[in-house]
Amino acid sequence: MASTSTRSRERPLDEAQNNTVPAAKEELQAPMHTDGGKATQTEPVIVINDLVRKFDDVTAVNGLNLEIRRGEMFGFLGPNGAGKTTTISILCGLLAPSAGSAQIAGYDIGKESKKIKEFIGVCPQEASVFKFLTGMENLILFGKLHGMDKQRLKERAMELVEKADFSEAAKRRAKGYSGGMMRQLNLMIALISDPEIVFLDEPTVGMDARARRRTWEYIGSLKDQGKTVILTTHYIEEAQALSDRVGIIDYGELIGLGSPEDLMAEHEAKDLESVFLNITGRRIAEGS
Ligand SMILES: Nc1ncnc2c1ncn2[C@@H]1O[C@H](COP(=O)(O)OP(=O)(O)OP(=O)(O)O)[C@@H](O)[C@H]1O
Ligand SMILES: [Mg+2]
Repeated sequence: MASTSTRSRERPLDEAQNNTVPAAKEELQAPMHTDGGKATQTEPVIVINDLVRKFDDVTAVNGLNLEIRRGEMFGFLGPNGAGKTTTISILCGLLAPSAGSAQIAGYDIGKESKKIKEFIGVCPQEASVFKFLTGMENLILFGKLHGMDKQRLKERAMELVEKADFSEAAKRRAKGYSGGMMRQLNLMIALISDPEIVFLDEPTVGMDARARRRTWEYIGSLKDQGKTVILTTHYIEEAQALSDRVGIIDYGELIGLGSPEDLMAEHEAKDLESVFLNITGRRIAEGS
């Protein structure tokens, strides 16, 4: 684990200088963007090849091929049970694929998942917090697991809770949190180490309208910081507003890919939700 979030970005550079890593790993070192990452949104940072995951007789991911670009806000959309969470779990090293491969910043998800964990952050669909700790204690614990410097960790945790208007709640044990509060804490945990690549699996489910809007704004600001964000959500309107590109998956297969504007033009649709319904032929189920 890296000892600070800065070091977690520096490490691949050390290796690159030893000529041991391919170009994609070096790319992770480029300075933060100030242009929303647009200028460099051509370099694939996540490459998925023929990915398959089976659970007994269910094929959750069925030969998925996809490239996600560096600095991109990528909306990963699909109906319930389409294979989004399974794909994210595989990319984050939480689940092994049945077949196929994927690389993140040039690192193989199977062989180099420890390395990958240094520069990714994950907000899983299912809350994963320590319920007998307070929100703040959870943040500090997860930051320590990332090897963050004590002072930096304290500052980062304070910054996150203040931005989320969560300072009072952060003093309480997570055990008593509502569903929406738990989601907010989970999102902050995903961001504690200031990761370069962030996976957000339905980050706003269960949040009230105000918390949701604030969270969407915050997610939008991640893009301005040059981060690569992979976002799943059933709030298609927000995905349309935020995403550079969206991928639509169903039955584990990619069935649509492009910018919201291009997809709307292609399907002669007034919005992305219409595109979604058009392609999947199913109704959108809100929440998990
Ligand atoms: N651990 C598991 N055991 C058995 N089947 C599973 C398991 N995890 C996922 N599945 C199945 O794989 C398919 C894809 O599930 P996944 O959770 O990836 O969908 P999703 O697109 O994230 O859906 P949602 O929008 O509801 O979160 C579903 O049919 C699901 O039942
Ligand atoms: Mg899911």
